[in-house]
Order: sequence, then structure tokens, then C-alpha cells
Amino acid sequence: MALFTYLLLATLHATLAEDCIINNIPERMAFEKQLRKDLKCNYKIFDPPPHNGSSFPVNVKFVMKRFNFNSEEDTFSVQTRMFVSWNDPRLQWNPEKYYGIDATEMTVLNIWAPTLTLVNSVSSDDFDDRFYFARCNIYSDGDVRCVRRVTHDAACDVNLTDWPYDQQECSLIFEAADVRSMKIHINASSRVFSMWGAEYGAEWIITDYKQETNYSSNKQLKLTFVVEREARGLAAIVVYPAMILTVMSVTVLFMDVRRAVRLGLASFCLLCHHYFLCELAGNIPTKNTKPPNLLLYYRASVVLSLVSMLLTCVLGKICGLKSAPQNYIISFNNFVFESFGRYLIFPQWELECDSDGKPFSQDWTKFANIINTAFIIVVIITYVCLYFILMPQPIPITY
Ligand SMILES: *[C@@H]1O[C@H](CO)[C@@H](O)[C@H](O)[C@H]1NC(C)=O
Ligand SMILES: *[C@@H]1O[C@H](CO)[C@@H](O)[C@H](O)[C@H]1NC(C)=O
Ligand SMILES: *[C@@H]1O[C@H](CO)[C@@H](O)[C@H](O)[C@H]1NC(C)=O
Ligand SMILES: *[C@@H]1O[C@H](CO)[C@@H](O)[C@H](O)[C@H]1NC(C)=O
Repeated sequence: MALFTYLLLATLHATLAEDCIINNIPERMAFEKQLRKDLKCNYKIFDPPPHNGSSFPVNVKFVMKRFNFNSEEDTFSVQTRMFVSWNDPRLQWNPEKYYGIDATEMTVLNIWAPTLTLVNSVSSDDFDDRFYFARCNIYSDGDVRCVRRVTHDAACDVNLTDWPYDQQECSLIFEAADVRSMKIHINASSRVFSMWGAEYGAEWIITDYKQETNYSSNKQLKLTFVVEREARGLAAIVVYPAMILTVMSVTVLFMDVRRAVRLGLASFCLLCHHYFLCELAGNIPTKNTKPPNLLLYYRASVVLSLVSMLLTCVLGKICGLKSAPQNYIISFNNFVFESFGRYLIFPQWELECDSDGKPFSQDWTKFANIINTAFIIVVIITYVCLYFILMPQPIPITY
């Protein structure tokens, strides 16, 4: 193709421009061709550059294009352009001898290149992690700068405890393989990862980045990213309903057990639990070892609603009893209602006159009222504890 273009240009020049233009393209090309030939001459691509026993510095830089975090498969993928540069003294030349040419391009297959591997890669194709298929610029002082597009798929353990307000920490760990007793030193003296201008996915955002180097092992470079789930939409369908259910479950307890509406509302509340749990099931990440705390909250709330429904039935039955209450029930009632306890009983249900049909209705109602109040206190305390222990809280925004 290049040759064709050149011929075309040459023909155009010959026909249009006659002799008035100094045509230096062929000369330059010839020199560059010669230069590449000379560089390849005696160059052994499997031998590392000559070194004096100290470690060999290799500079890396990444520019992120986009990233993706898959919490179902525990994979963190980043698409980057990876820039790797080093100095190979065998590739030096004197530009004056080559028509002033001080840079040329070669593919990485023609030169020696360091091997940088992503240690925690999930793609089985580790060929991909090697530094193939890159374009490299070579400068007359022996500097080699290569760039390639690469997608790193790193394994990342997911912790869903705080779902949907969860943050995950994922790392890319790079290893530099030693070459024939030459230790490769990944130079990460400044920030190597740039996220500027990257496309962010809708579901996760990167909120923090740090890099660590450890030159005492082969795993020299560790880039750690903190990703945060974009939770606003999810919260609306899984977190807020939990709070609504809580309010509903507690409200039911304040109603009079003798009215059918309490049992009706208690059943409706249980039905709502079912509905929102189904909604939750549709959104929750399925692959996880430990269930999110939010699920545990729902579970506890279902249990509490069930118990409160049972209690409603039992207290309803008690209020309707026609038999005479035992003495200890009467003394218990008197003890509560004649002491400070009567201020605690809330709500106090209206007492019907003891009629012939229900001679002891007042005593039984008082008793049921006390039990109900005790249950309200227990339920509220339980919900408060559950809320503080299990309810996921939004992550405060830090700038
Ligand atoms: C080895 O080479 C490095 C640079 O390539 C230089 O800084 C260092 O002084 C050299 N060491 C010896 C012992 O020559
Ligand atoms: C998951 O995160 C929670 C809180 O964020 C923490 O308490 C828990 O120890 C973590 N679990 C694991 C296995 O790291
Ligand atoms: C390491 O990288 C920094 C910044 O990128 C650069 O200034 C320094 O010269 C590099 N060191 C070596 C030995 O290449
Ligand atoms: C560096 O790596 C070595 C060998 O794996 C390990 O023993 C050491 O604790 C690491 N140092 C740091 C600071 O992580």
C-alpha cells in the first residue's frame, strides 16, 4: 500500500510539478529502510538489553478508556491504553548518519520487550497479558516506547454486606518476570494510572485509587480501585420499602385487636412483605457467599409481622372469652392499672360494659391490652436494633 501510494505520488509529481520541487521523500525512505535493517542486524530479540547487574527500569503508564465491574462474576475489567517504555542501548544510532532521522516505528515482534503479567487475571488466555501486538516507537538514544490497547480482567472478591450501598475494592497486580538474572524494575515513581476522560458505566463509579509498589517480590505493582455502586435507583425499590414495611408493622400494633381491621391490615402487611421480597429477589446479585444485611432485615421483619399477626388472633380470642379469669390475671391487671404502669399502657382500649353475654369482658380486655403494650415495646426495640445493625446506609459523599 505504501509503495502504491509512493508510486502514485511520484507519478503525480512527475506530471504536475515538473522539476521545481525538491523531492526528498524517496531519499528519506531509503534511509529509514536502511536504519531498520541496521538495527535488526545482529540484534537478538530473545536477549535482554546489556545490563550491569543492577535492575532494569521499565516505565509503565495506563490511560483508562472504560471499566466494568461485574459483581455476579467477581470480575473487574478495565480497558486501557498501556504505555510501556525502556531503554535498549542496542537500538541507538547516530541521526546524522541517517538523514537526520531520530525516530522510527517497529512492531514489538522485532525487538526484545519485557513481560508484564497481570497476576490476578481471570482470563485463562495469558497470552493476552504478554506484551504482544504493540506498536513501538524507537528513538535514536535507544528509548523504546510501546503502546497497546488492552483489557485487564482481574478477579475481585465481592462483599455484598452493605448492598445496595456497597463499595468494592479491586486490584490489578502486575508482575515483572526476571529475564536471565536481570531483574526488571517497574518504575512507578509517579501516578501511573490516568482516569481522565474515561467513560464511566452507569452502575458503578470509581471513587478512590491508590498504587503500591513492592520491589522485594515479583509482584511489584498493585493498583487498587474502590468502586461504589450507583444505588439511588435500587434504594427506591429495595431500601425504602423496608422502612415503609417497618412503619406499617408497628402501626398495626396500635390498633384495637377486637376490630377486624387490625387482622386485615396485619395480613396486608405480610402480603406487602412478600411482594417486596419478590422485588428484592429480582434485583439482588445472585452469586454471593454471604447474604446482604438488607435481606436479613427483611427476614426479621417477616418474622415480626407473622408473630404480630398470631398475637392479633390470640388477643382477639382472649378478649372474647366468656369464662371467669383466673385470680392471678385479675391481680396482675390490678397491679398494672393501679400503679405507675397505667401510664405506660398505650393505646388504652375502650372497655365495654360487662353484659350478660360477656360477663368478664373488661378483665380480659385489660389483660390483652397489657400484653399488646408489652409486645409493642419489644417490637419497637427490636426494629430499632435491627435498623442500626442491619440497615445499609448511603456512603457519605467525600470530595
Ligand atoms: C549500572 O547502570 C545504571 C544505569 O543504567 C547506573 O545508574 C549505575 O551506576 C550502573 N552501576 C554500575 C555498578 O555501573
Ligand atoms: C464485608 O464488609 C463488612 C462491612 O463493610 C465487613 O464488616 C465484613 O468484615 C466484610 N466481610 C468480608 C468477608 O470481608
Ligand atoms: C521513573 O519515572 C519517572 C516519572 O515517570 C521518571 O521521571 C524517571 O526518570 C523514571 N526513572 C527511570 C529510572 O526511568
Ligand atoms: C513485599 O513482598 C514480600 C514477598 O512477597 C513480602 O514478604 C512483603 O511483606 C511485601 N511487603 C509489603 C510492604 O507488602
